[in-house]
Amino acid sequence: MAINSDRIILETVDVVKQYQQYDTVVTAVNRAKIEVREGSFVSIIGPSGSGKSTFLHICAGLDRPNAGSVVIRGHDITKMKPDQLARFRGEQLGMIFQSHNLLPQFTALENILIPTMLSRKEEISYAEHLSKLVDALGLRDRLNHLPSELSGGQQQRVAIARALINLPQIVFADEPTGNLDRANADEVMELLLRLREEIGMTLVMVTHDETLAAQADVRYKMFDGELSPIMA
Ligand SMILES: Nc1ncnc2c1ncn2[C@@H]1O[C@H](COP(=O)(O)OP(=O)(O)OP(=O)(O)O)[C@@H](O)[C@H]1O
Ligand SMILES: [Mg+2]
Repeated sequence: MAINSDRIILETVDVVKQYQQYDTVVTAVNRAKIEVREGSFVSIIGPSGSGKSTFLHICAGLDRPNAGSVVIRGHDITKMKPDQLARFRGEQLGMIFQSHNLLPQFTALENILIPTMLSRKEEISYAEHLSKLVDALGLRDRLNHLPSELSGGQQQRVAIARALINLPQIVFADEPTGNLDRANADEVMELLLRLREEIGMTLVMVTHDETLAAQADVRYKMFDGELSPIMA
């Protein structure tokens, strides 16, 4: 895939998300602005409750902002109708959740293939791509197990395979190594960065981990709903 690193693939302008809690309003995201170049690795770091997951979900089209725009490859996803957004998401975006959100009644393999049931891309040879992902993630002998029969690290790797099966343009990862020990976290991170190179995708990752955040091409921090770039 040809990567044009000068091209902005994702841009948000003044994204606001507020929640009403009883008689107070919580501003989870406060006029957040981000610019992400195609093929880059962007990290977002910040304390618990600062709005990182909320912002990532809005960028990934899983949640709607109260104000502001989220433009991905020229399309403002906040303006899309639900079915149009679902299709766009299925084809272009991958999400690795903070708690991996595997469906408990389905096997690892079935979980990985869920995005392909919602939208299939003609240009992907799924058997080949699946095989490559499964080997890269060390899941070959775990495919027929249920999530409850997998370790935390294996569950997280299944969630990564599920996020990558449709060759998304952008992968949003919310603390992808949060439940893992150092060795497993390093391994998952290395895989994610290698797959990013091979597939040519853009990676936007939320983390608490300073060491991981420092590996990114561009770093942001979030504090009290406000997002700001960290200068190198
Ligand atoms: N569905 C919701 N309803 C009400 N308030 C919410 C909701 N989701 C998030 N919030 C509030 O928004 C703020 C930001 O939450 P968010 O989950 O985005 O933080 P975070 O930075 O991801 O934290 P963590 O590092 O603990 O995952 C918090 O004050 C949270 O309580
Ligand atoms: Mg979070």
